[in-house]
Amino acid sequence: MARYHVPVVVFLIVTLLGLVSGGRDVTGDLILLPSEASRFFSGENDNDVKAEGTRWAVLIAGSNGYWNYRHQSDVCHAYQLLRKGGLKDENIIVFMYNDIAYNEENPRPGIIINSPDGDDVYNGVPKDYIGEDVTVNNFLSVILGNKTALTGGSGKVVDSGPNDHIFIYYSDHGGPGVLGMPTSPYLYAQDLIEVLKKKHASETYKSLVFYLEACESGSIFEGLLPEGLNIFATTAANAEESSWGTYCPGDYPSPPPEYETCLGDLYSVAWMEDSAKHNLQSETLHQQYELVKRRTANDNSAYGSHVMQYGDIGLSKNHLVLYLGTNPANDNFTFVDENLLRPATKSVNQRDADLIHFWDKFRKAPEGSSRKVKAQKEFLEAMSHRMHVDNSAKLIGRLLFGIDKGQEVLDIVRPAGQPIVDDWDCLKTLVRTFETHCGSISQYGMKHMRSFANICNAGIQKEQMAEATAQACVSIPAGPWSSLRKGFSA
Ligand SMILES: *[C@@H]1O[C@H](CO)[C@@H](O)[C@H](O)[C@H]1NC(C)=O
Ligand SMILES: *[C@@H]1O[C@H](CO)[C@@H](O)[C@H](O)[C@H]1NC(C)=O
Repeated sequence: MARYHVPVVVFLIVTLLGLVSGGRDVTGDLILLPSEASRFFSGENDNDVKAEGTRWAVLIAGSNGYWNYRHQSDVCHAYQLLRKGGLKDENIIVFMYNDIAYNEENPRPGIIINSPDGDDVYNGVPKDYIGEDVTVNNFLSVILGNKTALTGGSGKVVDSGPNDHIFIYYSDHGGPGVLGMPTSPYLYAQDLIEVLKKKHASETYKSLVFYLEACESGSIFEGLLPEGLNIFATTAANAEESSWGTYCPGDYPSPPPEYETCLGDLYSVAWMEDSAKHNLQSETLHQQYELVKRRTANDNSAYGSHVMQYGDIGLSKNHLVLYLGTNPANDNFTFVDENLLRPATKSVNQRDADLIHFWDKFRKAPEGSSRKVKAQKEFLEAMSHRMHVDNSAKLIGRLLFGIDKGQEVLDIVRPAGQPIVDDWDCLKTLVRTFETHCGSISQYGMKHMRSFANICNAGIQKEQMAEATAQACVSIPAGPWSSLRKGFSA
């Protein structure tokens, strides 16, 4: 890419921020599943604080790169919380790329924080699955307790029995029907749901709670997670909006000035900061859901999202202690139904957090330094990848459905309660086709999953898609984002 002058960069940023500060993708009111209200009081009566079985936890950060600091930071914080709650290392399985604590950009080497004045959360975190071992296959095999299916890693799995309780927490980028991974391929919702069904069929848990932070995270469960699996899931966002990073440069509260990255995510710090304070023997999942929902909505500002709940809502009568344990130091701090936590005045769309990082780095670097040049280059490469992916998707839509109808078809949102696509094999094939001709969709490109799903829903065949894609993308751009071995195709 040619050299750009600063005014060009500023123009791009202004354009970009104009685009994103409109903020959340258009959503309208909170979508309540019809079943939500009616099921709340009819769940199994499993309210007892004495957990008979063992508590298990799987914690996973699905990204890497310093600009994604917050996902691994969230996961480390969750680990500390569970340890204080009394869970044992042998029952907590951690997935994180592990490239943050000693990253050259980290101002405090060996230390990770999850809030501006927070303590180190990195110390002691088990390195079960790190680097290239953070894979879809390992994650799913760990949940299933299938040791023979693992590649690399510590070999720790959820070796649970019928009375046990399982907590899964995932923090990353996502898109409609997909969750990211630092490795390829990414995770499709359908494959995750199939594994949860299989785990249920193996009768190796009593109940399972899934907390999920990602853009469009509602789409992972919406219309896909059936009742009756004894699974209660909450998500940071509904099926059609971003989730939000928090404690970002330029926000209030902001990270210490030497940090050029977001420290946490809005929904994630909401449940963790709540859990860290309270006696979890007296706080229920439902109470936490309500509180996290209020905080994450951020006064319904443009800088917030709609926290959702799925699955067996009745389980949310259970106390948190059943999954997270409880810190004895909080015994006298019973749950009070008020938001004790500071609201964020601003936060950053998950998808723009990388740009915030490059921009903040660029802004602070001394004039004429190689650091400034590098940050500018990184920013422009990320921007040009975005434009490439956006334009390619748009063009494919036009080639398939015509200039007038193209965008309309790509933008269709199915009614609440329906999954984004019925034929997941079609979706997978189309995404592979796209990546073959246009390069990796990468973490940013996951936002276009709904467009691909809609192409399938419109009955487009593989050959038509291949033809349109080849026309739209004559070659794969050389930029690092498009050519990174990321996305769905290995
Ligand atoms: C565990 O994974 C292996 C390899 O994928 C597979 O062959 C085997 O059937 C799995 N075992 C169970 C119990 O699902
Ligand atoms: C909780 O309060 C009781 C009664 O006041 C006191 O004896 C106990 O030490 C307190 N526990 C903690 C953990 O502060």
